[in-house]
Amino acid sequence: MKAIRVGLLGIGTVGGGVWSVLTRNAGEIARRAGRPIAIVAVADRNLERARAVVGEQALADGVRLTEDAFSVVNDPTIDIVVELIGGYTVAKELVLAAIAAGKHVVTANKALLAVHGAEIFAAAQEKGVMVAFEAAVAGGIPIIKALREGLAANRIEWVAGIINGTTNYILTQMDQRGLSFDGALQEAQALGYAEADPTFDIEGIDAAHKATLLASLAFGVPIQFDKAYVEGITRIDARDVAHAEALGYRIKLLGIAKRREQGFELRVHPTLIPKDHLLASVSGAMNAVLVKGDAVGQTLYYGAGAGSEPTASAVIADLVDVTRLHTADPENRVPHLAFQPDQVQDVAA
Ligand code: HSE
Repeated sequence: MKAIRVGLLGIGTVGGGVWSVLTRNAGEIARRAGRPIAIVAVADRNLERARAVVGEQALADGVRLTEDAFSVVNDPTIDIVVELIGGYTVAKELVLAAIAAGKHVVTANKALLAVHGAEIFAAAQEKGVMVAFEAAVAGGIPIIKALREGLAANRIEWVAGIINGTTNYILTQMDQRGLSFDGALQEAQALGYAEADPTFDIEGIDAAHKATLLASLAFGVPIQFDKAYVEGITRIDARDVAHAEALGYRIKLLGIAKRREQGFELRVHPTLIPKDHLLASVSGAMNAVLVKGDAVGQTLYYGAGAGSEPTASAVIADLVDVTRLHTADPENRVPHLAFQPDQVQDVAA
């Protein structure tokens, strides 16, 4: 069967993982998607790095490398654009251009969606294309699909979780190895967990982006990042960690979205968790999300929240989803947007 044609924007930590996993597991992925998924063009500002990841064989087979991401977005032979550039500006232009060109978009860009999601999803809805973002929240954990599909029967009461790998890595290393805050942050950066600007991690902004998206999915409300209470871990030092430990607690940065009688809470802050609670044992860059639904009760989702291949796993899951939908009869396509922007109620208003 004819391959679905993908343009990859950005082949750094996550993009490199997408390339490797898609190549390594091509047969299995094609069976699940119903047809092969082929990256036919890669845009990156560092062509040498891109060439090293893609390899001479793939280039000889026709994979196109370019510095011009817009040439990929506007390539009429491409069906799906994967945006892994990050940031708000160029990434936003590229995503909107891809949608305008009638392409489905897969993105890991939580910052972009938390801040400009309303505009982007509305554009996608109008054009009848999908914007999939499993990789934007909790790395490899399929929490978006859990909320959208697995828990679809439930009235979600709250979602609470460790949704930033970098800060969890820092807090764990301060606790277990007695590392300094800065030393642990440097390790997290070297391991590819941190954002390009790690302020987003340590100030809680990245977790707030993700919590905003989770709240929107859980409660069917518009994306409201500007309403989130955000406090990071920069004021926590080794003494806080040691005191918490002595009192029987661990400090974790939690993202919380909670339904209230009127509206809902959306907050990110360091929290004391009793050591015997499941979330207290989540260490390193692992993430865990607890969800309380009225029918199912509490469910827990645990796994790698950052890093190359775990995040690539989520990106490729979206590629498989989009490919299945793309192949389906348009009349019978499952509604695939996370929510319907014109049908939601702003319960916080
Ligand atoms: N910087 C993010 C984190 C990457 O540490 O969780 C994954 O979203």
